[in-house]
Formats: sequence, C-alpha cells, structure tokens
Amino acid sequence: MLKDLLRADSPDDVALGLLRLLATEGIRHHEESVTQLEHALQSARESETDTGDDAEVIAALLHDVGHLVTGEEVGADDFLARDLHHEEIGARVLSAWFPPEVTEPIRLHVLAKRYLCTVEPGYRERLSDVSEQSLVLQGGPLTDEECRRFEAGPFARRAVFLRRADDRAKVRGRRTRELSEYLPAIVAVLEERKRRGS
Ligand SMILES: [Fe+2]
Repeated sequence: MLKDLLRADSPDDVALGLLRLLATEGIRHHEESVTQLEHALQSARESETDTGDDAEVIAALLHDVGHLVTGEEVGADDFLARDLHHEEIGARVLSAWFPPEVTEPIRLHVLAKRYLCTVEPGYRERLSDVSEQSLVLQGGPLTDEECRRFEAGPFARRAVFLRRADDRAKVRGRRTRELSEYLPAIVAVLEERKRRGS
C-alpha cells in the first residue's frame, strides 16, 4: 500500500492513498485510549478554526503518518524503547506532494512539545503517559537557547498550534468527522501546491 501511495501523482490519487493508509494502518493504537485513526480525526477536528486554514487541518490529520509508515504501535516490544523520529519520516514522505505549511509543522511537532515543556508552566504535567515517556527518548525539554532558535523559525506558531491539537486528541469515544470528509481539503491543498509549483 505504501508503494502504491509513493507512486501516486495526481492530487486525487495521493489524497485517496493517504486516507486509505489512515483507514487501514490507523487501526493500530496510538495510546491506550485511541487508535491512530481516532487520534488523527480528533487532531483534525481540534484544528478547525474560523479562519478555515486547510493546511492546519490537514497537517493535524496527517501529523503521525510517520508512525504508520514505520509500523510503530503502542504495546509493541520496541515502542518507546527507541525513537524512530516519526516526525521526520512523516514530513519527508509528505513533502513529495505537500507545501511546507503542512510538512514543517509535522516535522516540528515533537520539538514543539519539548519547547512547551520549557516555556509553559504545567504543560509537562498535563502530558499523557505515552507522551511523557517518549519525551525522555526525544531529548527532554529544550534549553533556553534552543527555545529561542525554535521561536525564530517561520513555522513555530503552526507547530505549537498543531502540538496543542495533538495533545487534546486522545479522548476515548469522542465524536469526529468521517475520514472521507477531509478529501476535498486535502485535494485543495495539493492542487494549490501544484499551482504554486513549490
Ligand atoms: Fe500525535
């Protein structure tokens, strides 16, 4: 399935391939409370705002695609034993088709967690158990100097926005949209990137 997806070129084929990946590989568990698919749908719902920024919503929907392509699963022997850098893998795969407004927040969403642990009192204490365990593997809270570098980046705001949606998207049984409802927004973002040629 991943091979078919990587060969896809038209916006329709790419969008359908990604939704298929979420629908099938997404049955794996993200945390005990939700599957990867439920987590993706809750993240997307949490990212819907009055500004109607499709890139933010699609970044949220796809932010953990790296977990799916690496086959990581909570409960597996090696999960949380080593860091496979799912954020880098996901961003790299998606950068074949999506603009940086989608891929950069995905690449930065782990760094954004490490950033918030340093700058926001109480943030670390509110992390889920899995997020707290992975934080240690991912390098722990950023130093003050690393925080300044993170803030200076052009996608810091979007990365923090995505991170907050990610943190809220772990609620068992929460109602969300259907996966297929995101198809038009994904296609719109892909077509816009093709038009811009970047
Ligand atoms: Fe996530």
